[in-house]
Amino acid sequence: MIPVVKPTLGREEEDAVLAVLRSGQIAQGARVEELETRFAALVGTAFAVATSSGTASLHLNLLAHGVGPGDEVITSPFTFIASANSILYTGARPVFADIDPEDFNLDAKAVEAKITDKTKAILPVHLYGNPANMPAMCAIAGLHGLRIVEDAAQAHGAAINGQQVGTFGAGNFSFYPTKNITAVEGGILTTSDAELAEKVRRLRNHGQSERYRHETLGFNLRMSDVHAAIGLAQLNRLSDYTRKRQENARYLDQGLAGAVETPRVAPGYTHVYHQYTIRIPGGRRDAVAIALRERGVGSAVHYPIPVHKQPLYLEMGYRDNLPEAERAAQEVLCLPVHPSLTEQDLETIVREVRALC
Ligand SMILES: Cc1ncc(COP(=O)(O)O)c(C=O)c1O
Repeated sequence: MIPVVKPTLGREEEDAVLAVLRSGQIAQGARVEELETRFAALVGTAFAVATSSGTASLHLNLLAHGVGPGDEVITSPFTFIASANSILYTGARPVFADIDPEDFNLDAKAVEAKITDKTKAILPVHLYGNPANMPAMCAIAGLHGLRIVEDAAQAHGAAINGQQVGTFGAGNFSFYPTKNITAVEGGILTTSDAELAEKVRRLRNHGQSERYRHETLGFNLRMSDVHAAIGLAQLNRLSDYTRKRQENARYLDQGLAGAVETPRVAPGYTHVYHQYTIRIPGGRRDAVAIALRERGVGSAVHYPIPVHKQPLYLEMGYRDNLPEAERAAQEVLCLPVHPSLTEQDLETIVREVRALC
């Protein structure tokens, strides 16, 4: 079976973990700081703050922006639930705007239509590693005095005209094992705002400003040096991984052209192919996924239920009608695109998808 995801952990990660374990400094320390310095440099921000997960990064980012009860934050309904739940954690209300069917990301016009006097921030998601329309989001935010908190959990290295995601607003990346690079668990926030970075540093560590002095109510959402050491080893290979993902995507684009709707990338946009997502309309998607599995090709549906239709959100009274997000949930299928695919794997994927579509 060609797996749809495959984390690549090897000797470098093993050695790095052992070195940390033997050093005696295993909680948040020098490796976390090094990861922060290197990640900020990579993305192009002055600061990065590592956390225990991408969800924690989103949560603390929103809190540090002053988002709380009575506020609304506009986000995508077609995402992993953490994007929206991070808003709920603060006591604010997630407001869902529909997606653009071309790229599955937030539609700028739909966002504008959802702005009220309670709106505090926009939380765009760079889904599948393809940047959301940030020039439009920044223009809307500027016009209405809103903050931008980017969910870049799936989009390490994605960019628009060379400007990386995570620099348009405050960014949040995930190091979960399925992501383009992993720290097993972990997240990281990117910003050039010194005050915001400092607030998040305190919030992740019990609101502590100096040892055993606690200014605000904080949390324990720190990253450990063990996780950071793995993240650092992976960071060394990020550009190779991304290049391989992009080459694999080009192969699939060419091989599948005319048979299925392949991913669309706007001019000037750098897609890092966390997922390679096709559409299979006509109610056939699930049958195709089963048939592919029988033919040795793994696939996944990200995501089968839009957030506003999740039981949790229905229970809270959400009754949105968001037709593009709902259609995408019925039609999308993610094919393997990870850097471990061989030429033969790619040939198999193309052959079997073409045979079924
Ligand atoms: C779009 C999106 N947002 C947020 C998250 C949350 O990241 P984490 O699993 O590191 O908490 C994920 C990944 O799981 C994700 O895919």
